Amino acid sequence: MLRFVTAGESHGQALIAWISGLPAGVPVDLEFIGRELHRRQLGFGRGGRQRIEKDQPDILAGVRHGKTIGAPIAIRIENKDWKNWEKALPVEDSDGAEDAQKRLTAPRPGHADLAGSQKFNFHDARYVLERASARETAARVAAGALAKLLLREFGVTVLSHSIAVGHVRLEREASWEEIAAVCENLESPLRCVDEATQEKMKAEVDRVLRAGDSVGGIFEVVARGIPPGLGSHAQWDEKLDAKLARAVMSIQAVKAVEIGTGVTNAGSCGSEVQDEIAYNAGRKVFERSSNRAGGLEGGITNGQNVIVRGYLKPISTLRRALQTADMKTKETVKAAYERSDVCVVPAGGVAGEAMVAFVLAEAWLEKFAGDSLEETRRNFEGYKQQLENF
Ligand SMILES: Cc1cc2nc3c(=O)[nH]c(=O)nc-3n(C[C@H](O)[C@H](O)[C@H](O)COP(=O)(O)O)c2cc1C
Repeated sequence: MLRFVTAGESHGQALIAWISGLPAGVPVDLEFIGRELHRRQLGFGRGGRQRIEKDQPDILAGVRHGKTIGAPIAIRIENKDWKNWEKALPVEDSDGAEDAQKRLTAPRPGHADLAGSQKFNFHDARYVLERASARETAARVAAGALAKLLLREFGVTVLSHSIAVGHVRLEREASWEEIAAVCENLESPLRCVDEATQEKMKAEVDRVLRAGDSVGGIFEVVARGIPPGLGSHAQWDEKLDAKLARAVMSIQAVKAVEIGTGVTNAGSCGSEVQDEIAYNAGRKVFERSSNRAGGLEGGITNGQNVIVRGYLKPISTLRRALQTADMKTKETVKAAYERSDVCVVPAGGVAGEAMVAFVLAEAWLEKFAGDSLEETRRNFEGYKQQLENF
């Protein structure tokens, strides 16, 4: 069973991703993982923190001589900001350490600050926000990069682009080539495939930045090269669309998930929505003229691109702070402000890619299994033949 968990606080020593269940023999390209981590840090509207550190993956276990060895993998990503927080968040308590604590008693609406403090019985939201922070997505991206490396062996690629920032929306479909190009271009400010729309998106970010406000938006993750037959209709918890929705919804600030054009589909007639089927005798494959279903029918992949959209709420930390109640004095005060992003749509997309890649890799190994990459490949080739003879 493929799985991963993460550990680490936003300003602690490091983040850790622990990944278990990858077959032995998967080539691990450190440069690729580093590039993925870097992509997560980019985007117009990010806060000062991204300038402090360039994330680097440090693999502690499970990879030897450039390949996975079938053992659990541990990846460490150092927090360069730790040196500024060592006194505030020491592992061991000591005399006078209390004075250095950076307490946060004015909980920020939209964050885990208040609910988390009540849950764990802290009268200071520091420990809660340290772990709730989306800095944790760096560890997810590292785990997702390993999933991508497995999928890459079978010709599967997972990419993303931004389709809305605040009120500005991409009003046309993006081709795979356009998405690939905008992912390749690390200078792209908001990873939108349409230049004119991207300029409007930038203006939207500038507008809220000046106003001390923030924006949300929509990212779209697209996976290409997925065969029909991953996931299952047979049980509610085996449905791949549901697994993808859960994984993307778990990303900080994602408040809705859409498969294909599911939201528009809900307001359309059946004849306008379903993707009609034809058989291409030359290529010996079933084809569709459209992909509104986002590559999933009945919880099973249908051979089309898998498309998952994540809807991000606007960033909660506002320079023009909202009203809150102090957790100690109970008085009405302004919510605390800590250095913050104002737009994270492209970064959310990279986290989305990681989560989608991981769920697809999990489904891949459920179907094709194998303790070694060779064994997985043999099983996959057998299935490919079955599809060809279908
Ligand atoms: C890549 C990324 C970066 C984020 N950066 C910030 C940030 O700088 N400031 C902030 O208030 N929220 C940020 N968020 C969102 C918060 O982490 C999130 O809203 C908060 O933890 C509460 O969780 P919830 O919105 O999922 O309920 C970010 C989210 C993502 C995906």
